[in-house]
Amino acid sequence: MHRVFSGIQPSGELHIGNYLGAVRNWVALQSEYECIFSIVDLHAITQPYDRDALATRTFEMALGLLAAGIDPERSTLFVQSQVAEHAELAWALSVVAPLGDLERMTQFKDKAAREETVPAALLNYPILMAADILLYRADQVPVGEDQLQHLELARELARRWNARFRPGFFAEPQPMLSRARRIVGLDGNAKMSKSLGNTIGILETPEQIWEKLKPAMTDPARKTRKDPGNPDICNIYHLHQHFSTPAQVEHVAHMCRTAGWGCLDCKRLLADNMIAALAPIRERAADLRAHPERVREVLASGAERCRTIARETMGEVREIMGFYGAGAAARAT
Ligand code: TRP
Repeated sequence: MHRVFSGIQPSGELHIGNYLGAVRNWVALQSEYECIFSIVDLHAITQPYDRDALATRTFEMALGLLAAGIDPERSTLFVQSQVAEHAELAWALSVVAPLGDLERMTQFKDKAAREETVPAALLNYPILMAADILLYRADQVPVGEDQLQHLELARELARRWNARFRPGFFAEPQPMLSRARRIVGLDGNAKMSKSLGNTIGILETPEQIWEKLKPAMTDPARKTRKDPGNPDICNIYHLHQHFSTPAQVEHVAHMCRTAGWGCLDCKRLLADNMIAALAPIRERAADLRAHPERVREVLASGAERCRTIARETMGEVREIMGFYGAGAAARAT
C-alpha cells in the first residue's frame, strides 16, 4: 500500500484556504492510502514566532484537523517536534544537499529578503521537509504548487543519498497535486494566509463569517449597484464555486452580469452555503473542545507510532552511514 505523508504549519486556526487547498484532500485520501499527517512546528520556528503561543497553536491546529475530518482510526496525526529523528535525518541528508540548490529555492529567496539576519534554518527548511517524508519512506506527498520545488529537492536528496550510500534505499516521493487552485484571501489579491489577515477560519461563527464577507473585495470595476459585474475576476464568485451548487453558481454569474443582484445579495448566498458546509466541522470542534484529552491522546499515540517507524529508518541510516555503535559497524569494532 502506498504511504502518504504531508505536513501543515501550526498557524493556529485552520482557514478555508487551508481547508479547500489541502485538508479536504487529505480527508479524502484516508480511504485509499495509509496516511501520516504532521503538524510541522520545527518548520514554523524557521521564521520569527511567538514562543508563548506555539504550543497552543499546535494544539488548535490538531483540533481543527480532527474536526475537519482527519480520522485517527485510519490515519496518524502527530507533532513533528515529538519525533526527534526528523532533525536527525535532516542532518544526515544535509551531507548530500548542494548549497546552490538550497539558495535557489524561491521560497527561501522570498523569506530571506524579508529578514535582516537570515537564519541557517531558513536555508535548511527543505532538507527538513525531505527528512519528514523519507523518514517514513512515504512515496506520495499531497502538496500545493508552492511546495513543488521543495518536493523536487527532496527527490534530488533521496537520489544523491542513495547514490552515495545505498542504491535504492529511499524511494523518490511523488507529488500529488490537489485539484483546487490556490484560494485567494478576502482582499481579492493575495493567497489566503493567516499572516495577511485575509482569512475566514473554519471554526468561525455564522456572524463572524458574515461580518468578514460583507466588506470582502469583489469585481473592483463594479462601482455601484446598477453596474453589471464581471464574475470571472471576482473572488466571491470563485468562492461560490467551492461552496455553492452548479445551478447556484450559474445563477450568481447571470445575476452579476445583468446587475440583477448587488454584491451583498451574492455574498449572502455564499455566507449561507459556507455556514452550512462548515456547520458539521464546528460541531465536531465544539465536542473536542469539551474533551481536550481526546486531542492530546491522538497526538500522543500518533507520536508513539511515528517514533517506532522513525527509529527503524534511522537505525538503518546510522548503520549504512557507518556510525559507531550501529549495526555491522558496531560488530566490527
Ligand atoms: N513546507 C510545507 C508547507 O509549508 C509543510 C511541510 C513540512 C510538508 N514538511 C512536509 C508538506 C512534508 C509535505 C511533506 O506547506
